[in-house]
Amino acid sequence: MRVLITGANGLLGQKLISLLSTEPDVELHATGRGICRIPDGNYTYHRVDLTEEGALFGLFEQERPHAVIHGAAMTNVDACEEDPKECELQNVTVVESLIRACENHSTFMTLVSTDFIFDGENGPYSEEDKPNPLSAYGHSKLKAEEALRKSTLDWAIARTILVYGVIPDASRSNIVLWTKKSLEDGKPLQLINDQWRMPTLAEDLAMGCWLMTKQQAKGVFNISGKDLLNPYEIALKTAAVFGLDASLVSETDGSKFTQPAKRPPRTGFKLKKSMEVLGYHPSSFEEGLEILKNQLS
Ligand SMILES: NC(=O)c1ccc[n+]([C@@H]2O[C@H](COP(=O)([O-])OP(=O)(O)OC[C@H]3O[C@@H](n4cnc5c(N)ncnc54)[C@H](OP(=O)(O)O)[C@@H]3O)[C@@H](O)[C@H]2O)c1
Repeated sequence: MRVLITGANGLLGQKLISLLSTEPDVELHATGRGICRIPDGNYTYHRVDLTEEGALFGLFEQERPHAVIHGAAMTNVDACEEDPKECELQNVTVVESLIRACENHSTFMTLVSTDFIFDGENGPYSEEDKPNPLSAYGHSKLKAEEALRKSTLDWAIARTILVYGVIPDASRSNIVLWTKKSLEDGKPLQLINDQWRMPTLAEDLAMGCWLMTKQQAKGVFNISGKDLLNPYEIALKTAAVFGLDASLVSETDGSKFTQPAKRPPRTGFKLKKSMEVLGYHPSSFEEGLEILKNQLS
């Protein structure tokens, strides 16, 4: 099976490359916008800016993938709010181009989406709950989902939440690494206690995406961690596992902070469908932190 990973330099992308490099029946193709930042492995790297439709179509002509896992996106929620045109280009127009490329080659498409398509009033959410995004990022990801639903493709959507993990040469941090670094530097941290998420280990998300793609399981699947936590609790658990000074962590609420993009107060996902249909079994948050600790030591 020829599998193409987009966003291969990113957090999910690098974990997918590492997971699929060991699959005997997979011919693996990785794409990224810049030079390859992925460690060595059993894959071919193609440097492609996905906003250039001609280059994307050329890659499909050349490699004719059976399946694509689309991890590339503009993922900074506040940057999306401040530049909605760029957000639309990266998160919607690119998906429309990818759908056309997949339609030309009967390629199975797995799109990675987000809990930010919901308003956070009624989490945890099932796959059937009604979206109501609050931010430009959430709107763009929902629009991408809708484009895929309208297509003639066989498709799957993996919705995920607050992904954490470690990769070499990361272009951005995540809540666990940021908390760990701040506490190691002895910085006091004030974290909010009124937004709830189910943080997702990047390895678990990669496994969920692969299970969907391998099984060609059609439809929407919730692929997140299983513990509903607020950032204050996330920081306390991070301090405990890494043996850092938890007294530096204090709690506050969201009213003290202003951010360009509105955040949903309480998301989280019901995981029954992905567990039963796919055999997806995510780590607990503590297990995820232990995995990270081993990787970093
Ligand atoms: N991280 C989270 O907490 C989270 C939560 C919910 C959903 N998601 C979704 O999960 C997916 C993977 O997220 P992630 O955390 O792995 O993101 P990430 O680390 O930011 O990686 C995204 C990758 O996409 C690439 N990219 C962006 N625009 C591109 C373009 N025009 N052409 C080619 N490559 C392009 C970026 O390239 P550069 O490295 O060159 O910038 C980056 O490597 C995304 O769809 C995201 O929306 C993430």
